[in-house]
Amino acid sequence: MRISPVFLCRLLAPAVAMACTTGSTMRTTPAVAGTGVANTPPLIIAHRGASGHRPEHTLEGYALAVQMGADYIEPDLVSTKDGQLIARHENEIGGTTDVASKFPARKTRKLVDGDTIAGWFTEDFTLAELRTLRATERLPFRSHAYDGQFLIPTFDDVLALADSLGRARGRAVGVYPETKHPTYFRSIGLPIEEPMLRLLRSRGLDRADAPVFIQSFEDGNLRTLATQTRVRLVQLVSTASQVTPAALRDMATYAYAVGANTRLVVGSEVNAVPTTVIADAHAAGLRVHVWTLRPEAVFLAKRYGGDPIAEVQELVRLGADGLFGDYPDQIARGLRR
Ligand code: G3P
Ligand code: CA
Repeated sequence: MRISPVFLCRLLAPAVAMACTTGSTMRTTPAVAGTGVANTPPLIIAHRGASGHRPEHTLEGYALAVQMGADYIEPDLVSTKDGQLIARHENEIGGTTDVASKFPARKTRKLVDGDTIAGWFTEDFTLAELRTLRATERLPFRSHAYDGQFLIPTFDDVLALADSLGRARGRAVGVYPETKHPTYFRSIGLPIEEPMLRLLRSRGLDRADAPVFIQSFEDGNLRTLATQTRVRLVQLVSTASQVTPAALRDMATYAYAVGANTRLVVGSEVNAVPTTVIADAHAAGLRVHVWTLRPEAVFLAKRYGGDPIAEVQELVRLGADGLFGDYPDQIARGLRR
């Protein structure tokens, strides 16, 4: 999809204003002594866009995130039936679109990465069919005011938007794609990696210094990608066994950063003692990007007493290099305090 000037203006107007008033520039600071790891303020990574404010993975949500100060916007990537990459958190889209009302007969059941799931799957729809859908909010306790309004974007739409927004604010908007279910998609003949790299190359973004990170929960595809691209790679982890010093040293052979669940960095209990994961990762030469900061009581650790800014500040104190959050405005506020 071409981003039309009118559409862009509608998305951009506040972002441009903010960029002009803040005079934002790329961040550069010296390395942490003895680690070789840069001591920069954490990157603000808009998790699925400004997904606390708009339905996740929509151009409107990504644009709002940039307006709120995000350095990077995060599209999770899955494939359509005709091999196009689109931004969705998972290939089952019953919970984030109006597919159930538009294609009721397409409901099915599949085994994906060991889980049997009932619903509607992106790999069963062409891009043209998916373009007829509109995004809806996943979580019942968040606003549904925008349900039914926004398209499902392709990865190329996201790259085009980031390019346009970056030019408008005079500072690159980074893109942080995640390959979702990469082994599964390859097994059905719809691999994620090749079209992702093709699209990055088509925009001159297959470079070590491009404002791009590629992330995955699987290590197999990242190890292969390390031989195919110079884009920085991020290994997502969610268990303690994945972040032992030895595991981190191995990770550093192919990854630029570890993307760690917040609970691996600080336990949720009020008196939890922070772990050494960030220090260990830095010692291994890895950056640490932490996910996912969310302020609602069901997500926020009790130790922060209901104050999401306290979580931001603790992660900053511990040396996190990037923070994924559904509310990039809150992270920006936490970083300024
Ligand atoms: O990519 C970081 C974080 O997004 C991983 O969790 O499930 O939200 O993709 P998920
Ligand atoms: Ca993700």
